[in-house]
Amino acid sequence: MKELVEKLYSGQDLSDSELAELINDRDDETAELLRIRADEVRQRYYGKKVFLRGLIEVSSHCKNDCLYCGIRRSNRDADRYRLDREMILSCCENGYSLGFRTFVMQGGEDSFFTDELMCSIISEIREKYPDCAITLSLGERSRESYRLMKEAGADRYLLRHETASPELYRRLHPAEMSLDNRIRCLFDLKELGYQVGSGFMVGAPFQTTEDLVTDLRFLQKLQPQMIGIGPFVPHHSTPFAEEKGGTLELTLRLLGILRLMFPKVLLPATTALGTIHPMGREMGLKTGCNVVMPNLSPVDVRKKYDLYDNKICTGEEAAECRHCLDRRIVSAGYEVASERGDCADFTI
Ligand code: 5AD
Ligand code: FES
Repeated sequence: MKELVEKLYSGQDLSDSELAELINDRDDETAELLRIRADEVRQRYYGKKVFLRGLIEVSSHCKNDCLYCGIRRSNRDADRYRLDREMILSCCENGYSLGFRTFVMQGGEDSFFTDELMCSIISEIREKYPDCAITLSLGERSRESYRLMKEAGADRYLLRHETASPELYRRLHPAEMSLDNRIRCLFDLKELGYQVGSGFMVGAPFQTTEDLVTDLRFLQKLQPQMIGIGPFVPHHSTPFAEEKGGTLELTLRLLGILRLMFPKVLLPATTALGTIHPMGREMGLKTGCNVVMPNLSPVDVRKKYDLYDNKICTGEEAAECRHCLDRRIVSAGYEVASERGDCADFTI
């Protein structure tokens, strides 16, 4: 199995069956070699830098009904909120003084945030913070909406494809959602000049190794600037409440594989990874990750952006994830970068 790691390291690709073999392997020594190679590649392009993104969770209202997600519209128990313009701007102000140079506005698919409203918020942030990157993560919208928001000053867009297997996509989503539209959105975003982040959950219900290989192949086609992956974590008020969650081992293995396949990509150590293990994000950083996304949302709404159970950074003690993450990054042997942190591959 170690030869497969070396082959992936030197050639950035493997056949489908080799990838499947590497994903299925459970050998600790292979895992450690993969980690070492992944870290070597991340350090070649990014040194020890870890980029920070200030995450502002703007709304927990969502018109979608993804079966895995705690804020799906069918969850009558979900506590819904949305931030208004002033609250979003005050998160940016706080974030800027904490040193963030990227703001990510993420939320459910909430029709309250019309193109007009989003564009006016984006323009205001753009004007106030010309040195910051503005990232959106607001789900599927029309090409025209993406165009207008880009024109207003947005730079980046995060939209996980969730799974590139049509069959699995159907089992994780309601009938009215389609993988084709998801993919349409992602290619529209790229064509419009956004730096794009995509990704998938690891260990989602019904997910097979072949599905994961399909995800890797899809990412090779899309060539996103960022790839966000994290373990599936069951949420108690969803149809998947009783399903098993994704494991730390498999998530780390996929992070290592992604770093070797996409040497220059931005790879976040996600909150979900930090949720399933207290040192999950640190282990992610040591396995090729080079981004963390501290929570900048007002503390009183954090529990309401409830995608999965036991989500970290939602209590009073997490008021300043910035400093907590600083310590964690340094303790893992890396350094906090105070720049915008564009992808090493992105040139316009
Ligand atoms: N477990 C892990 N990740 C989840 N997401 C949504 N629900 C869950 C869950 N139960 C992820 C999706 C989405 C991102 C914002 O959160 O991949 O794209
Ligand atoms: Fe949020 Fe540690 S990063 S509390």
